[in-house]
Amino acid sequence: MAGKEGFDLVVVANRLPVDFTVSDDGDVSWNRSPGGLVTALEPVMQAADGAWVGWSGAPDLEVEPLDADDMRLVPVTLSAEEIERYYEGFSNDTLWPLYHDVIAPPTYHRTWWDSYHRVNQRFADAAVEQAAHGATVWIHDYQLQLVPKMIREQRPDLRIGFFNHIPFPPLELFQQLPWRRRVIDGLLGADLVGFQRAGDAANFIRAVRRLRAYTTRGPMITVPDEDGRERHVRAAAFPISIDSRRFDELARQPEIQHRAREIRSDLGDPEIMMLGVDRLDYTKGIRHRIKAYGELLQDGRLDVEHATLVQVASPSRENVGAYQDLREHVEGAVGRINGEYAEIGHAAIHYLHHSYPPEEMAAMYLAADVMLVTSLRDGMNLVAKEYVAARSDDRGVLVLSEFTGAADEMAAGALLVNPHDIDGMKDMIVAAAHMDTREQRKRMRRLRRRVLADDVARWSESFLGVLTAMPSRVPRSTGPARSASSEERDT
Ligand code: G6P
Repeated sequence: MAGKEGFDLVVVANRLPVDFTVSDDGDVSWNRSPGGLVTALEPVMQAADGAWVGWSGAPDLEVEPLDADDMRLVPVTLSAEEIERYYEGFSNDTLWPLYHDVIAPPTYHRTWWDSYHRVNQRFADAAVEQAAHGATVWIHDYQLQLVPKMIREQRPDLRIGFFNHIPFPPLELFQQLPWRRRVIDGLLGADLVGFQRAGDAANFIRAVRRLRAYTTRGPMITVPDEDGRERHVRAAAFPISIDSRRFDELARQPEIQHRAREIRSDLGDPEIMMLGVDRLDYTKGIRHRIKAYGELLQDGRLDVEHATLVQVASPSRENVGAYQDLREHVEGAVGRINGEYAEIGHAAIHYLHHSYPPEEMAAMYLAADVMLVTSLRDGMNLVAKEYVAARSDDRGVLVLSEFTGAADEMAAGALLVNPHDIDGMKDMIVAAAHMDTREQRKRMRRLRRRVLADDVARWSESFLGVLTAMPSRVPRSTGPARSASSEERDT
């Protein structure tokens, strides 16, 4: 652990990698929540002297920094109003839909922006407090786009990286945002801005050119510094992955294989088990998938005695209206299709509004003949990679939307679909259901080579490698913190 001078690596993300529970008598306890990001960063956090700044997930929870698994965890407190405005509002009802091709209409509220700005400043201040001189700070995702600039203003000695886990939209959509230049300036506070796909980096660079008129050359952007000097910001793609070996190993365990057989038998041993696994989010194309599936039953190209669809839809952002609407739509559609086509002992769709531990997920992946990933827009989609990592038997077919980051890497082995083209998607689902085992093996091997080689440890090493190889900053005396006021116009 670090001494008084602070940490050499500070990760800043909206959520901490632990879940807090507050008992009735007010005692706070926590459990690790092993999300993708923490798995990715654990080795580098342990090797470096690492601190993680993030929100506990609960309102008004004031918790002192704590040490867990060789990391210092630094909780940032959010009030109930900030959760409403910064998290549910600006992050998930403004930026999320805007950055996902406006599948749902983004809402623009000035009070939400003010809260986003204030909370970003709080994350930046907490990170600054933890960082040793010359440390590396790595900021994650759309909730914290103003943090890079806010940190740089206080600590020009730090190396600052930012990674956007979701898509970066084309300028024609991004420019709807009333605070678009403030967001660009916020991100340009970083030395390295990482994206999932080359297309996202290109969208960002184009937005910088058009909204700020800075010079760009390939991935390099020249930004004038406050003191009249120039500095360079690199914007490039670093497609994220999963801990592939962990899923591979999980799925090789006899208990998990036993559980996979049990799942199939509980489903009535269908010939074809199809699987969808998503957060219940309108970007995931769950409605399109269910519509296609229902039509296949109607057309008689699939029938409930031989095929079934298991749809895991984990609860997400339940206070946001668009998510409530989606849940109603999905549950209505599932109810209608089951009402119409199910028979005793043969549901058409098994709809599970829960989340499950990785062991159960690995068993479901092993049990599923066809994995359906039909997002309308998705930064990467890690479920597609988890499915592949779990299939050491070289069986199973991945049906994958063209609109996922994963499609850039997995086109060679997956069956690509456009989820808006319901007829095209129906044909692909049928092709997947009937694919012979030789073809399955050929495709799955290709996919596995890719997913097992490019795992998440490689991702974080490659991002941090590029960041730390960038020319180091000249240390200057740190003046008083200066940040743009929330009244400042978007000029
Ligand atoms: C996406 C985002 C993450 C976010 C996750 C879960 O993957 O990129 O930043 O943490 O969804 O959403 P939530 O709002 O529950 O954190």
